Amino acid sequence: MSTPNATVLVDPRRTTGTIDNRVYGQFLENMGRAVYGGVFEPGSPLADADGFRRDVLAAALELAPPVLRWPGGNFASGYHWRDGVGPTEDRPTRLDLAWSTLESNHFGTEEFLRYARKLNATPYLNLNASTGSIDEALQWLSYCNSEHPVPEAALRRSGPHPDPHDVTIWGIGNENFGWWQHLHTTADSYAETAREWGKLLRWTDNRVSLVGVGSDDPDWNWTVLNEAGAVLDWLSLHFYWNEAGYEGVLAGPLLSEAEICETWGLIGAAKRRRQMHHDLRICVDEWGTWNEPYLSMINQPEVINRRIRGEVGMPVMTEPSPLVEQRFDLTDALAHACWLHVLWRHPDKITLATQAQMVNVLGPIHTTPDGIVRETTFHPLAVARRCAQNTGLNVEVITEAGIEYAGAPAGSLPALDAAATCDPASGRMHLSLVNRLPDSELLVDLDAMTGPVRRITLWADDPAAVNSPEDPDRVVPVEDRIELGGVLSMPPHSHVTLVF
Ligand code: AHR
Repeated sequence: MSTPNATVLVDPRRTTGTIDNRVYGQFLENMGRAVYGGVFEPGSPLADADGFRRDVLAAALELAPPVLRWPGGNFASGYHWRDGVGPTEDRPTRLDLAWSTLESNHFGTEEFLRYARKLNATPYLNLNASTGSIDEALQWLSYCNSEHPVPEAALRRSGPHPDPHDVTIWGIGNENFGWWQHLHTTADSYAETAREWGKLLRWTDNRVSLVGVGSDDPDWNWTVLNEAGAVLDWLSLHFYWNEAGYEGVLAGPLLSEAEICETWGLIGAAKRRRQMHHDLRICVDEWGTWNEPYLSMINQPEVINRRIRGEVGMPVMTEPSPLVEQRFDLTDALAHACWLHVLWRHPDKITLATQAQMVNVLGPIHTTPDGIVRETTFHPLAVARRCAQNTGLNVEVITEAGIEYAGAPAGSLPALDAAATCDPASGRMHLSLVNRLPDSELLVDLDAMTGPVRRITLWADDPAAVNSPEDPDRVVPVEDRIELGGVLSMPPHSHVTLVF
């Protein structure tokens, strides 16, 4: 049997647009060990004077997130910002109903903003549009940004950072459509909240950019876009890929891509219908693989009934939940590489994205008391941060080869997924390729691409290979220089990056 093959056509003159750097953001939630024991561990020998883990910070800086979103997620929907400002010893401990944990509030607004500064990341604060009030939201905005003689600005001035923080990205709520959210609601009611909150946030500080909650339900999105689109800069979508099995995980980004295109159509239609002429794009402020039972529980009526009666999920968790501290394997890393391809194919549609999440909870960085492990999923993003350029290129893949998967649009997934970026000024280019075939090498015809290139390969003999404290470098990128002769041979289940 001959080796399966694919052809890749890249025309440097046909671009998909300028890639907004903010698509490489990260998400941090007060949840599990993401903050406490993750980025923040005062008293640890690995922590700096501010209590931040130095090893985590150094790894996070390799990912160089331009944006950091906080405090949630579901946690945001029960969060009251005043609990987390002022002297640490005076802050109340609260029961967090999103994740059934006790929240010490030792990591609050100032700690988050200090951390964002250390990362050189633009902060993105997510408002509590569930149990929080509009006054509380406006006061948080004033606390962060105001120079007026108002009490919230005075409170900030009495703290460690008297100058305004100038936080410009604000999210109005989180997944307000879902039963798992504090006070979840209907599209009409959420849209009204988003519109009115958005209006008052802008009247308080007209430099803000606002994210509204979108969903996988087009009816929800249509209502929010029509009723609140005028005050929004982004509609947010969340993507977690949790189908079991190799093919299921790899299908995730492809299915998300279809949803992005559908939602983009709705945005265009709503803008035309409501004569909105401002920039309104998609923000994907949670994305990643999540192969664990929590997500599959979410849609089972019996489980939902038991959860809302408090019969499961309580009492307070005292240990980190294994539900959210999954380990990632090479298959997950391939899915993450394919997702980056989606960002590069649609820079006109997606201008903000934050990976869920940065540390421990579903994160590419995993901590132990003595150090960190870079998960497999760390590497595609780290490679992208080193190699990707500022402009997406139109890439065409031609192949007959693929793997069967009933959940995919055509009943199968093409063997190859590819995307490319370039910097028109310098002529630099990078091409990213994922061979989805689990057991077979793939011969990729690169048309007329020849000459010396840097090649970075992420591969292991087993697609289920993971990195662990015992074996932290089982799946790491390997770099070499090759002379490209127009055809590239890719190992099975691999991610190969070529830098021209
Ligand atoms: O990232 C974990 C959780 O997933 C977030 O809190 C929530 O927004 C989503 O359901």
